[in-house]
Amino acid sequence: MSRSAHPAGPRHADVLTEGHYSAPAADLNVLDEKVWSRTVTRDADGALTVGGITVARLAEEFGTPAYFLDESDFRARCRAWSEAFGPDADVFYAGKAFLSRAVVRWLKEEGLNLDVCSGGELTTALDAGMPAERIAFHGNNKTVAEIERAVEAGIGRIVLDSFQEIVRVAHIAQRHGVRQRVQIRVTVGVEAHTHEFIATAHEDQKFGIALADGQAAEAVRRALSLDGLDLIGVHSHIGSQIFDMAGFEVSARRVVQLLAEIRDEHGVELPEIDLGGGLGIAYTSEDDPREPHEIAKALSDIVTRECESAKLRTPRISVEPGRAIVGPTAFTLYEVGTIKPLEGLRTYVSVDGGMSDNIRTALYDAEYSVALVSRTSDAEPMLVRVVGKHCESGDIVVKDAFLPADLAPGDLIAVPATGAYCRAMASNYNHALRPPVVAVRDGEARVIVRRETEEDLLRLDVG
Ligand code: LLP
Repeated sequence: MSRSAHPAGPRHADVLTEGHYSAPAADLNVLDEKVWSRTVTRDADGALTVGGITVARLAEEFGTPAYFLDESDFRARCRAWSEAFGPDADVFYAGKAFLSRAVVRWLKEEGLNLDVCSGGELTTALDAGMPAERIAFHGNNKTVAEIERAVEAGIGRIVLDSFQEIVRVAHIAQRHGVRQRVQIRVTVGVEAHTHEFIATAHEDQKFGIALADGQAAEAVRRALSLDGLDLIGVHSHIGSQIFDMAGFEVSARRVVQLLAEIRDEHGVELPEIDLGGGLGIAYTSEDDPREPHEIAKALSDIVTRECESAKLRTPRISVEPGRAIVGPTAFTLYEVGTIKPLEGLRTYVSVDGGMSDNIRTALYDAEYSVALVSRTSDAEPMLVRVVGKHCESGDIVVKDAFLPADLAPGDLIAVPATGAYCRAMASNYNHALRPPVVAVRDGEARVIVRRETEEDLLRLDVG
C-alpha cells in the first residue's frame, strides 16, 4: 500500500466559517465508542482491530469494500433487548435491516423472534431454522403466493395492512383449514421527528389503517367477524431513527385507547400490542440513543398506566428493533483511492465503494462518521467529503468529516454504524459487485454473505 505524502488541501480553519460543520474531534486517532461496535479498539501500532483482528489482515483476506460485523456485539444487543423487555414481552428483530442465515441462527440462539416483510426474507428465516411460530410477516402489499407460503409454514402472525388484505388472509387461512393469528397495523397519526421517507405514522402514506376516522375500528370489526382470522392485537410503527420517546408514548396511548374501544364494543380484550421498531442509533458523536432498558421502561410504564386508567388487562407488548440491534455492530472498510483537494472548499476522498454499498446518505441525507483505521496520524485535520466511485455526483458516503491531512491513496478508512440498511439496500449500480459481510468474533473472521462476482452479474444476464 502506498503511503506517499499528499498535498493536504484546505485545512478546516479555512472552511469552518462557510459551513455548518462540527469542530473536528480533539484527536482524530481516538475512536468514539458510541459509534463503533463494542470490540473495536486500536492495537499498539494504531491499527483498528475488531474481534481481535486488525483491519490490515481483514482487508488482505477479504478485500475492500467489505462490511465487518462484530458478532459478539450483535448477540449482546439481542440479549440487552430481550432482558430489558423481560419475559412478558417479545422482541422481534426487523430482518429488513440486515438478514442472512447466520443472523437468523444468532437470533434463534439468543431467543429473539423475527419480523420479515417479503417472501425472500421468509425463505431465509425458514431455511436457517427459525421456527415459523416465532416469525411475524409485514408488508403493505403481500402477494397471494407469499401469504399462502406464510400460512402453510404456520407463521406466528401476519400483520394486516389493509381492508383487502383482511379478506385475502382470511380466505387463504380458511382454505388451509386454519385460524391465522393476525394483528392489524394502525396509523396513529403521529408526526415522527425523522426523515420524511422513514416516517410511517402520519396519515398521508401507504402503510396501515388510520385510527383517526374510525377506519381502524372498522378493520377490527371485519377481522373479528371472519372465521379464518384470530385477531391477537394491534400494531403501530411510527418511523425510523427516532430518538424522542414522545412519539412512541403517544402511539402507545392511542393503541391502548383502541383496545379499550374494542373491549367496549365487542367485549373482547385483545391480548397483544406491537409498538414497532424505529429506535435511533449513533451515527456520529452528536447522536444520543437511549439504552434498551430505558426504552422498555418508558414503553411499559405508559402502557401500564393507560391500561389502568382504561381498566384493561395489560397486553403483552412486542417491539421490532432492526437498526438498534444490527446498526452499531458493523463498519464498512474502504481503501482510499483518488484524493482531490478543492481549494477553499474541501477535499474529496474517493473510496472503492460508494452509493452501491451505502445509499443512505444520498437517499435520506444521512450523516456518518469516518476514521483512518490502518494507522494513526498526527497530521492536522482536513475537512473531507468521502465519495464513491459511481458515475453520479450524489454518490456521497460521508458528507462532511475530518480526516488527517496526510491521508494517502492506499490508506484504509472505515465508516462505522453501517450494519443496518446498507448491505440490505446495496445495489449493482454501474455493475458494482456487492461487498461481502464478514462476521468477526474472538479472533476469527468468516464470510456470512460472500462478495458478488462478475460471474454472478453475467449469470443473471441471460443474453
Ligand atoms: N417494524 C416495522 C413494521 C417496520 O416497517 C420497520 C422498518 C421496523 C420495524 C424496523 O425499524 P428500525 O428499528 O430498523 O428503524 N431504509 C431506511 C429504514 C426503513 C425502515 C422501514 N421499516 C433507513 O435506512 O433508514
